[in-house]
Amino acid sequence: MSEAYIVDAVRTPTGRRGGGLAQVHPADLGAAAIKALLRRTGVDPQAVEDVIFGNVDNVGPNAGDIARTCWLAAGLPEAVPGVTVDRQCGSGQQAVSFAAMGVMAGVNDLVVAGGVQNMSLVPMGSSGAAAEVLGLPGPFTDSQGWVQRYGTGEVSQFRGAEMIAEKWDLSRDDLEAYALESHRRAVQAIDEGRFDAEIEPVAGVSTDEGPRRDTSLERMQSLPALIEGGRLTAAVSSQISDGAAALLLASERALDEHGLTPRARIHHMSVRGDDPIYMLTGPIPATAYALERTGMAIDDFDLFECNEAFAPVPLAWMHEHDIPHAKVNVNGGAIALGHPLGCTGAKLMTTLLHELERTGGRWGFQTMCEGGGQANVTIIERL
Ligand SMILES: CC(C)(COP(=O)(O)OP(=O)(O)OC[C@H]1O[C@@H](n2cnc3c(N)ncnc32)[C@H](O)[C@@H]1OP(=O)(O)O)[C@@H](O)C(=O)NCCC(=O)NCCS
Repeated sequence: MSEAYIVDAVRTPTGRRGGGLAQVHPADLGAAAIKALLRRTGVDPQAVEDVIFGNVDNVGPNAGDIARTCWLAAGLPEAVPGVTVDRQCGSGQQAVSFAAMGVMAGVNDLVVAGGVQNMSLVPMGSSGAAAEVLGLPGPFTDSQGWVQRYGTGEVSQFRGAEMIAEKWDLSRDDLEAYALESHRRAVQAIDEGRFDAEIEPVAGVSTDEGPRRDTSLERMQSLPALIEGGRLTAAVSSQISDGAAALLLASERALDEHGLTPRARIHHMSVRGDDPIYMLTGPIPATAYALERTGMAIDDFDLFECNEAFAPVPLAWMHEHDIPHAKVNVNGGAIALGHPLGCTGAKLMTTLLHELERTGGRWGFQTMCEGGGQANVTIIERL
């Protein structure tokens, strides 16, 4: 089996809802990341064999295979195809996995993988909402098989996150302390220029817009719970965001042929499922599976990225696997930096690679919770 190498990884800044990227069409947002990737690597676009992009809510500007549209909107050769992947919040990570699989299988030598989401323009849940207007059934509770198996209760990330907080006995104070630290780390990372190398400015925006310099525990404590009696608030939830990211995956043959220097190799990738009603616990069994498959231990890793969909997710995951917070989301996570759904997996991989390089680390571990109770894991080795 061939190795799959990461040659480069770049992302747009992450825009806040209604912020500087809100008016940028997702095709143009994705195009910006792709153009930056090609410019930075210097590869001939004709040599790219496929473009695999994550995206959620494939309606309106996202419809019609956004991966393909991003490439074409970037002015790149029509001969290069594109395919859009939806593994919910992990779509961008799955796109990288699919690209790596093609390379490892010897089917492809050079693939662009990434993700794009403009949640300001296409609000979360738009595909369901658009279907409702057409009188179409919803994805779950209109299915006989689903109802027989899971009942008619609410299927949502908000319910799942509340259930996790309850099961793992995480108080609102615990969640807010975690969220505050996410903002602190993100602000520090921005101030120290840690993201500068990975960000391609777009539409006049050059910095992540999410982190709040003025947040505090007192301010968070004053916010209303999302549901009556619940522990979640806006402050302990990932932000609604806009962004795109792109990586170049290459085989050994492509490295030689195009004179490229690899920055990391994909050591392991897997994806597992868990209870779809809890929805966001997937990283726990997925991490156990990845460790078992690779024979690696938590101590082997220099850095972890675990997507902060809601604070209970990384907290329960760290607890179950005894993972030190000091190694997790060291530059802040989605609570501070935002979570542009289909983009986030590629964005986290971009940040993980750059942070391993900055700190001289070798092994990076990425996992994310995803709709349907799923979770991807990718282990990279910095070279
Ligand atoms: C949680 C959520 C519903 C909140 O939406 P919202 O109420 O529109 O959120 P806002 O960002 O406007 O925040 C609400 C208020 O809290 C305040 N706030 C939010 N985070 C804060 C923080 N860290 N510190 C202080 N104040 C904060 C805002 O300033 C705002 O106050 P205002 O109304 O006085 O302006 C939304 O962010 C969301 O859906 N997040 C989850 C996304 C998701 O599910 N992704 C997939 C993961 S599985």
